[in-house]
Amino acid sequence: MNKNRHLLRLADWTEERIVDTIETAIRLKEELKTGTPTAPLRGKSVGMFFEKPSLRTITTFQVGIAQLGAFPVQLSPDSIGLGKRESIKDVARCLSRWVDALVVRCFKQELLEQLAEYGNIPVVNALTDDYHPCQAFAFAQTIRENIGEFQGKTVAFIGDGNNVANSFLALCAKLGMNFTLACPKGFEQPKAIVEEALPEMAKRNCCYKVFNDPKEAVKNADILYSDVWVSMGQESEKDSKQSHFWPFQINDELLSFAPAHCKVSHCLPAHRGEEITDSVMDNLDVNLSYEEAENRLHAHKAVLCQVLEKTK
Ligand code: CP
Ligand code: NVA
Repeated sequence: MNKNRHLLRLADWTEERIVDTIETAIRLKEELKTGTPTAPLRGKSVGMFFEKPSLRTITTFQVGIAQLGAFPVQLSPDSIGLGKRESIKDVARCLSRWVDALVVRCFKQELLEQLAEYGNIPVVNALTDDYHPCQAFAFAQTIRENIGEFQGKTVAFIGDGNNVANSFLALCAKLGMNFTLACPKGFEQPKAIVEEALPEMAKRNCCYKVFNDPKEAVKNADILYSDVWVSMGQESEKDSKQSHFWPFQINDELLSFAPAHCKVSHCLPAHRGEEITDSVMDNLDVNLSYEEAENRLHAHKAVLCQVLEKTK
């Protein structure tokens, strides 16, 4: 399988392809704001298959697809019965005859890989249990617009070593940013994901650190990042998991240990009062979450243009 054809994991893409996508997103944003949008995907259609809930991803893909001149097709997991009513192979082959790309949010990364393997169209990862590359693109654009150059900046991810953290680590490794994870013992990222990132980081003189003390982690950060402690699909672990994470809340006290210029962002949805407080969420001088949410639209359009080879 040609992994470049899809966006299954950010780590599959080269630095050049990632940078080109971020620049395309910035250009598409500018074109939209100046009222000069183009419709590079005119006449195409894009299938959207979401097994997990979504506000931002589903809305921004749907709006973005329409803005690009293409037609979004909502596919209902219940109605399709993937792997039950019909095999994954047959669903992928049929969809490939009708739509030009597929945006998928599902539990297992393996399902995404199978849809890419059996179909004949680009597949875009709109979040799995393991990765959230589309979020990483919106985050990168937000850094570029609010903080500047990537090289040498430090992202401190405060919380669970989860799907978002995995894609952000890959992003930092490809763009020369330091990535720091602050988490309770036992909630680190999978070793294989870290080991894949380390040589990329060494190439670009940036580093990966893990702290169990969040105050240590924020010391040299340019941006703190937050995500829910209990991801979609982990609801049954809520009580046992959450109890470990209270010291990892992003609040005014933790922020006081970070440099004065340090920003905060969250992929959203935020559980206010858990991983982040109201006072940080509502401090719009510091909190870039809503800009990042806006950038989901531009980033997703750029990703679709990239996989459908329409960036220029
Ligand atoms: N951040 C994000 O992916 O939001 P949704 O789950 O609402 O799509
Ligand atoms: N880690 C979270 C991200 C939500 C956008 C989850 O998977 O639920």
